[in-house]
Amino acid sequence: MVAGLKEQWCFAVRNAGWTPELKDDLLQVVSTLVKGSLLQPLFRALRVHQTASGHQASIDELTLDALTAGEVVVRTLWAGLNYKDSLAVTGAAKVVSGYPRVPGIELVGVVESSDVAGITPGEEVLVHGFQTGIEFDGGLAERVRVRAQHVMPIPAGLSAFETAVLGVPGFTVAMALERFEAHSLTPAAGPIVVNGAAGAVGISALAILARAGYQTVALTRRSSSIDTLKQLGASEVLVADVFLNQTRPLEKGRFAAAIDNVGGDTLSWMLRSLLDHGQLASVGNASGIGFSCNVLPFILRQATMFGIAANAPWPVRHRLWARLATDWKPDIGALMRHVHECALDDVPARAAAQIAGQSAGRTLVKFNSA
Ligand SMILES: NC(=O)c1ccc[n+]([C@@H]2O[C@H](COP(=O)([O-])OP(=O)(O)OC[C@H]3O[C@@H](n4cnc5c(N)ncnc54)[C@H](OP(=O)(O)O)[C@@H]3O)[C@@H](O)[C@H]2O)c1
Repeated sequence: MVAGLKEQWCFAVRNAGWTPELKDDLLQVVSTLVKGSLLQPLFRALRVHQTASGHQASIDELTLDALTAGEVVVRTLWAGLNYKDSLAVTGAAKVVSGYPRVPGIELVGVVESSDVAGITPGEEVLVHGFQTGIEFDGGLAERVRVRAQHVMPIPAGLSAFETAVLGVPGFTVAMALERFEAHSLTPAAGPIVVNGAAGAVGISALAILARAGYQTVALTRRSSSIDTLKQLGASEVLVADVFLNQTRPLEKGRFAAAIDNVGGDTLSWMLRSLLDHGQLASVGNASGIGFSCNVLPFILRQATMFGIAANAPWPVRHRLWARLATDWKPDIGALMRHVHECALDDVPARAAAQIAGQSAGRTLVKFNSA
């Protein structure tokens, strides 16, 4: 087939006076080549593989055919590197559902081609959740092929970059805040405590809650973070060594609500420190999945604890992104000071640092087209 095509091209080049029939034949040939994989441009993607010796991450050169199916091809501008992505990249936990897989649960990019009406080339879009980077190839690639029903236009009121800065961490905080308010939380009820405060969800929580009018208390392991967390809006910063010495069944009631990114002893302390009718949103497990507590916060203070999964149906997504673009839109400039851009090649090292608890702030993988 390829040899035949070459012959036709050579024949055409040798004969300046092309016949109409030959022109038609050549057009047909070129169109076949473009649709097939032979002339598909290569792009770079970080993929995880299962090998005989275990898990391996590598930067591979791919064509679109290598990706999971979808009607929309997106040229990636930024992909957030979330804790879950770092687990997938390092193999520290089994996150992806099959191999090889491009991890990356969120991305912002520009539509390059689309087989569906309503999503047009050139449009800036956001993709997160819906098993992106888990069951479907995700954002850690220069090109992403996605199902049309997973694609969302950049919310009105946010730029593509602002949307990338907020990403899954911002959406997660918005889910928790909406649930708190549905259970009658108002700023007058008292402060909201946030642990893992120097992490991506933590900084987003401090900035978004400040914008929404709440007082916040930040919990961190690092005394070096005190000033920066205050600049983000925390009215008080508590360092872990101090509060974790407290082990009473109920601590002094101080917080109207809590966002837990960490699990373990710090989750237990926050639960035991809730005010009457206090609420705790369990978001993450940066220190592990276990925790030990007792029933007194629930019985004596009528506390509520619930979980958040940042993978919501469309009405919730539209509603929360609209709020993140308006009355909950945080000071993006302040958040930006905690955003670290990196290249795709840096991802394995960044992911290892995040899993070791050595990273801080939000990491955005920036692609050449951004
Ligand atoms: N439920 C959902 O839908 C959802 C969405 C997003 C994220 N998450 C989860 O939420 C958690 C936080 O996500 P993230 O993106 O903020 O992660 P991150 O950027 O890595 O931040 C985690 C923070 O937790 C603290 N931390 C890390 N290791 C710790 C340890 N061993 N002991 C105590 N504290 C530790 C650190 O804060 P300090 O330095 O301030 O102590 C760190 O900055 C992760 O478990 C993630 O998977 C869940």
